[in-house]
Order: sequence, then C-alpha cells, then structure tokens
Amino acid sequence: MNIREALTYDDVLLVPKMSQIRSRKDVNTSTKLSKNITLNIPIVSSNMDTVTESKMAIAMASIGGIGIIHRFCSIEYQAKEVLRVKRHQSMIVRKPLTIDPNSTLEELRAKAKEYGYSGFLVCEEGSTKLLGIITKRDYVLENGDEKFVRDLMTPQDKLITATNEISIEDAKKLFVKYKIEKLPIVDENFNIKGLITKKDLVENFDDKFSAKDKHGRLLVGAAVGVGDDFMERVDALVDAEVDIIALDIAHGHSLIEIEALQQIKAKYPNLEIMAGNIATADAARDLINVGADCVKIGIGPGSICTTRITTGFGVPQLTAIMDIYPVCRELGVPMIADGGIKQPGDLVKALSAGADSVMLGGQLSGTEEAPGPVINYNGRRYKISRGMASLTASISRPGAKEDLSKITPEGVEARVPYRGPVKDVVSRYIGGLRSGMSYGNAMTIKDLRDCEFVKITNSGIRESNSHDNEIL
Ligand code: XMP
Repeated sequence: MNIREALTYDDVLLVPKMSQIRSRKDVNTSTKLSKNITLNIPIVSSNMDTVTESKMAIAMASIGGIGIIHRFCSIEYQAKEVLRVKRHQSMIVRKPLTIDPNSTLEELRAKAKEYGYSGFLVCEEGSTKLLGIITKRDYVLENGDEKFVRDLMTPQDKLITATNEISIEDAKKLFVKYKIEKLPIVDENFNIKGLITKKDLVENFDDKFSAKDKHGRLLVGAAVGVGDDFMERVDALVDAEVDIIALDIAHGHSLIEIEALQQIKAKYPNLEIMAGNIATADAARDLINVGADCVKIGIGPGSICTTRITTGFGVPQLTAIMDIYPVCRELGVPMIADGGIKQPGDLVKALSAGADSVMLGGQLSGTEEAPGPVINYNGRRYKISRGMASLTASISRPGAKEDLSKITPEGVEARVPYRGPVKDVVSRYIGGLRSGMSYGNAMTIKDLRDCEFVKITNSGIRESNSHDNEIL
C-alpha cells in the first residue's frame, strides 16, 4: 500500500517574498465566510459550550469576525442567545449606574467621585423603573449637601427616552434636536434597558469594522446537529434571524448530514449553511453538491480533541486544507479551517493553504467573553475548555445517556490560562496576519495562496522557536 505523507502547521514554513507592501496597515483582511457572507477578519469563534454564547458572538462580530452559538442547550436558550446578538446595539451601555431618588446631594457627589461620572439615571434601589435623570448642570450650583436627588432631577415626564430598537442615526438626531447629553433606553413600562451617552456616541463609537447584516445588525451563526429535533431547532434559529447555520457533526461526510442538509435547503433555500466537519476533497464535493455554502475542515486537530486517538481516523490539518482547496476553488465555496490553531503563524499558514477563515476554540475559551467562570488555581487564573465529545460535555447535554459506561469520549476537558478580553487575543492574531501578509507580498487573503511552503525538520521547528536562552 502506498501511504501518503500528511502534514500539519508545525511541519511547514512559508517562504518570504519580495514585498511591495509598505505598511501592515495597508493589507485587506476581509474574507468570505460563506457564499453570501463577508467578514472583515478571517476568524470565527467555535460552536463549543466553553467558547461561544451571545457575549462572545457580540464581541467577535464587533471586531469583524463572527461567533457560532453552540447547540448543547435547549432550543429556546439557543434561539434567545441568537436574538441577543441580533438586538445588540454596541453604543448602548447595558447596565448604567443609577442613584436612589432619596439620596442626598452629598451622597450623589460621593458617588460621582467614586465612579468618575457626573450624571446618573434615577431609580429606587431594587427597582428598574426610571424616575428621572440627574446631571451635573442640575446640581453644580446647588449649595447644601442635604438636598435630595428627587428634588433636583429632571423628572420622568420631562425626559427624552428611546427604546432598544433605536438606530445609531436616529439616536444622533435626538441628541442634536433636544441638546441632551444622555438618552435612557427604556421599555414600554419605563424599565431601564440601557443608556446612550453623547460622549460614547460621538467620541467612542466606531463600528465601521464590525461584521453586520444588511440591516446593520451584528452577524451571528448557530450550530445544529442531526438529532430528531434538528428541524425544530433550525426553525427557531431562523425565527431569531440567525445569519448562518452550522450543520455540525463530528463526521460530516455522512448520509445523515447530507440528508439533513437537503432537508434544511428544501425548506430554507436562502439560508446559509456551513457543513462539517470533513477532511477530504470527496466530502467537500458531496456536501457542496447538496447545497453547502461553506465547508468546515477538521477531523481531530483541535486542542481538546481525541478523535484520532479514539478512532484512528483523521487527516493532519494542513494536508486536509490543501486536499480540499481545489474543490472549493472550482465550485466557488469558501472553507473554514477548524481546530489546531495555536499561534498567529498557524492562521497565516491555514489561509495560505487555501482556507478562507479559521475557527478558534481553545485559544478563545480562556477569554473574558467565553462562558464560565475564571478559576484561581495555584495563584494563577484559568478558564475551562472542554471537547464537545468529552465525558463531562456528554453527560451535561440535554437528553444525555444515563449509563456513563456507554459513553466513549472523543475529547477532553482542560484548564486554559485566563486571557482577558477576546479583542486582545484576536488583535494578536490579526497583527500576526498583517505581518505575514507583508512577508508574503499579499494585499489580500487570496494573494497569500501564491506563497510557497517548505517542509521543515525537527531542527527547523527548534530553530523557529526561541532557543538557547532562558525565557524571562
Ligand atoms: P481548537 O484547537 O481551536 O479546536 O481548540 C476547536 C475545535 O475542536 C473541535 N472539537 C472537538 N473535536 N472531539 C473532537 O474530536 C471533541 O470533543 C471536540 N470538541 C470540539 C471543534 O471542531 C472545535 O471547533
């Protein structure tokens, strides 16, 4: 039998080219996620329950990528998470500071000093009902610390307010028309839902780079499996106006996935579908032939995956991408490289090999926006990352098998370092990508495909990492 050699990211390097790029800032990092969805950065957060719920998806779309909400929860929960992203307005502060109407001027001044804000929404402690606003001009000339907020505030009936649905442009118009500094967001019963400040809107709000739909709302995806209720789940997600459905099973090149894909496309011909996971050109062709709008590559490369160990199957990720790329190029369907990305250089290698974007799991699971608490262990901060086919994930999913001995895990649970806000992690990746594009004389991600790979040895890998010194 002729056994092919298969490679992954660490086995290769890209050969630098004469570069006409003068600044890393000049390169264009936009890419196709699927046939009809464009992102501003080629990064997708994984549909794992320790990676993507609405908070992550909002953060990812805000910086130009997208998050795929996981499916290991009830249909209602997942659909609500999608709605949260679609309804998100990044200019709205969701939990504005409030002050009780019975507070004194002295207490107000102390609170203003403590938080560095001069104005507050007024509502009784324990309530969310907006009673008024107090801003600096209401009290700056007041003497007598014993006066009450309720007597100085602008009362509810004189307030200009808006509801959650307000657009940026309409909010701007209200600020100009009424010469206000703060615009409370309330529901029909005057419960506080947020706050827009003139400062945030005029000085800080820059959403030019975020990934949005045609109505200006953030993009979001959601995963479904092929279980009995999958069509019900798709219906609920479509109702919540999801932008793309990830049809996500471990072995995507299967009759059950093909049938599910056909069923979804028959009902929703215009719904974008990400199909996966796969590792061969035949799989890509079969899924694209029944309507996949993008394919997701990765059988076992993930940081918490043990599929290859448990089943003996898989293809090292770089070879899988290179094998599939000609089919995706011929049929005009983008591909996502899912799993195994540990460093920005791996992202550049994945895109050079033919991927249009990458999906990150473990690298994002330690961030602030990933679900789950920060844990302290031996003086260090961590979060949890777990494989969706790990034992704990299998036990905790809805409708789990009762008999643990019947579960054969294909993933593990792990501790990952706490990494702070996701934008900082992604920014390191995009910084690496921009530099990489300059080394490869690539103004666009497509241009990276002209770069040459060389295979390296263990000595090359050793040379690539910092060596012969003690890292500080
Ligand atoms: P990284 O390396 O970014 O990989 O952490 C994330 C991807 O790993 C896949 N995944 C699994 N694969 N068993 C597997 O074989 C699992 O339990 C498992 N859970 C997640 C998934 O494709 C994810 O995006």
